[in-house]
Amino acid sequence: MAIKQIQIHFEEYREISELPQLERPLLLEAKSALTNAYAPYSKFKVGAAVLLENGKIIKGFNQENAAYPMCLCAERATIGAALVQFPEVRITHIAVSVKSNSGVISQPAFPCGACRQVIAETEDRFKSSMILILQGEQGPIWRFPSGKSILPFAFDASFI
Ligand code: THU
Repeated sequence: MAIKQIQIHFEEYREISELPQLERPLLLEAKSALTNAYAPYSKFKVGAAVLLENGKIIKGFNQENAAYPMCLCAERATIGAALVQFPEVRITHIAVSVKSNSGVISQPAFPCGACRQVIAETEDRFKSSMILILQGEQGPIWRFPSGKSILPFAFDASFI
């Protein structure tokens, strides 16, 4: 028997102003996007913004439904919106922020498993990782080198 371990490396920033310059407006756009979230059931608003290789920023937010499983997450809605408009353009970065009715969130909230899987597929498809930037309503900003870095042991096309 052997015990094995994996490590996940990420960067922590205290302020948006500390982020690489290119990424500051992206996180601000994610925060502005969440104001449009349709989250009457959870009251948990999520905003996302992706930066494309052509310099465009596409924003999105979660969209809930009285039939709860139909809820759309912000990350998948945003990636979908970007790829509808620019099907061939690589996504280089994704920023996500959140806001809840039930108190100030001072920690980054992670993309759910389904969103991680979609981010990983998009990275594989374009053979290009996307830098992932997360912040709660306030507090530390966590910056990961890729979506796949937060989905260890991912299922991917290599298994099919
Ligand atoms: N949500 C997202 O938008 N992204 C995630 O990765 C996790 C959850 C949304 C779905 C639902 O509208 C609300 O957050 C509460 O789960």
